[in-house]
Amino acid sequence: MKADLLITGVSQLVTSEGGGPKHGRAMRELKIVEQAAIAISAGFIVWTGRETEWKDEAELAVDAGGRAVVPGLVDPHTHAVWAGDRLADFEARTSGSTYEDILAAGGGIRSTIRATAAASEDDLVALAKPRIDTLIASGATTIEIKSGYGFTPAAELAMLEAIQCLSAISPARIIPTLLIHIPPIIATERSGYISRVCKELIPEVAKRKLATAVDIFVEKEAWQVAEAEELFSRAKQFDLVIKLHSDQFHCIGGSELGIRLGALSVDHLEASGPEQIANIASSPTIATVLPGVSLHLGIPSAPGRKLIDAGAAVAVGTDLNPGSSPLFSISEALALSVRLNGLTSKEALVAGTVNAACALGIQNAGRLEAGCPADFLVLQSSDWRDLIYTLGTNPVRDVWIGGKRVK
Ligand code: NIG
Ligand code: FE
Repeated sequence: MKADLLITGVSQLVTSEGGGPKHGRAMRELKIVEQAAIAISAGFIVWTGRETEWKDEAELAVDAGGRAVVPGLVDPHTHAVWAGDRLADFEARTSGSTYEDILAAGGGIRSTIRATAAASEDDLVALAKPRIDTLIASGATTIEIKSGYGFTPAAELAMLEAIQCLSAISPARIIPTLLIHIPPIIATERSGYISRVCKELIPEVAKRKLATAVDIFVEKEAWQVAEAEELFSRAKQFDLVIKLHSDQFHCIGGSELGIRLGALSVDHLEASGPEQIANIASSPTIATVLPGVSLHLGIPSAPGRKLIDAGAAVAVGTDLNPGSSPLFSISEALALSVRLNGLTSKEALVAGTVNAACALGIQNAGRLEAGCPADFLVLQSSDWRDLIYTLGTNPVRDVWIGGKRVK
């Protein structure tokens, strides 16, 4: 076999084996090959093993210099496209207001919607591009980005077009999601908005392939279960997969709805209790935890440990957004999941690779095996555990996507 590229000098090659998602105890199973090499052809991995066992030719060899290599990380939950800022909210919160008070008073997400509506599509791309670059530098090779600050169907489409443009200009693999974020503030306008989303927005998004999934924020201050169900049934008619922001502040039935409808993931879960944990753990739906939110808002952390012990497949994301999680690093999100959600280092790596890929419906990402895209990270350290241990400085040295070095 002749390879285009051989990565040598890998102190440890660390990966999950086989497709995911990995549930429960299987989240602790990693394969670690020491003194390893990776052979790559046409952007895909064709061989991995001990360096001394590679007997074929490669056009080019790149020495990792005795550093550890892990799969490219997958950030399965971001709101990376927004305009304006939430510095006033932050100040109000540090003086005693809560995130929910601010939202109920017409601020919070609604203020970001106003600022985003006032920005052009070009502005949105220009604002988001450096955020995406920062996520890539932190180790993200696949990044989900949600709309949701658009509010009118036209503004949501503009956000999804901005995401499409980012996908064209960024080396990262970008997965777009249509987020139906919050309802109109006037109660009598809610059903009219749902009809417009069902009649105009979802069909148009599906026709133009602007998103692969529909996400809904199910919460006291946002959409109710019956409303979300109506929106999801329309999404399913167009073969869009579904995911939810659920159990963030209150358990009003969001995660139960997600499990019942076969959601790809239920995200947040900070308020999930024993019933929700048992329900999620006995389903194929992935539980995506977002420790940046607990850190930034000072709310409880999602029960990652309990979910895994009950048999769930857990993923971790940044939830990068201006209001609840200004966290621009996926490696830091993994590090926080150990401190805040009770994951072990091995579980955090699985949560940020193969399980996060599955939370986006991708089967061949997040692992270093023949047939998978050559998306991987060369760490600063010879020991992969530094990826999860390190706080406040970047543990990632080089980022490779599709066999090309992008950082
Ligand atoms: O994932 N909870 C709802 N949505 C986002 C926050 C968006 C915002 O505050 O701007 C979240 O936390
Ligand atoms: Fe979110």
